[in-house]
Amino acid sequence: MEKSGKKNNRRDFLFTASYTIGAVGIGATIWPFIDQMNPDRSVKALATTEVDISQVEPGKSITVLWRGKPVFIKRRTESEISEAQSVDLNELKHPEKDEDRVKKAEWLVMLGICTHLGCVPLSDKGEYNGWFCPCHGSHYDTSGRIRKGPAPVNMEIPKYEFVDNNTIKIG
Ligand code: FES
Repeated sequence: MEKSGKKNNRRDFLFTASYTIGAVGIGATIWPFIDQMNPDRSVKALATTEVDISQVEPGKSITVLWRGKPVFIKRRTESEISEAQSVDLNELKHPEKDEDRVKKAEWLVMLGICTHLGCVPLSDKGEYNGWFCPCHGSHYDTSGRIRKGPAPVNMEIPKYEFVDNNTIKIG
């Protein structure tokens, strides 16, 4: 009786040991795959970009790189804002209200890429006091909307949010 009891204990021990090894073995096999699926830190850092806008004066803009693309952050003056807001939407090739393109009227945040063939337009240029793309002559207004030239649509607004009054998080 005692002998078989010992045998059982030994068998239990062997089962337990093999289950444990099995669990460790599976864990060790799965982890590298899970770890590979996590984006690497540099990729995570590029997915969002926080920008300090405290030094941007009214009427000025800065350009930051986000996911390898230029993003224009323009602090608009009162007259640039009223110009953007007073446009008759019927005049626009790609009708969008200025209010729908900004979160705060003072700040316009958009991809600095011409929607024609992808050049980077120049700030404070063109016939509509916004941006001008010299590649083939597209004029954008103070809301980044296409007003003249071959570009088919307005410059794109990326996903962004105000973290606080001085910080914008893009992405
Ligand atoms: S790329 Fe800007 S007008 Fe052609």
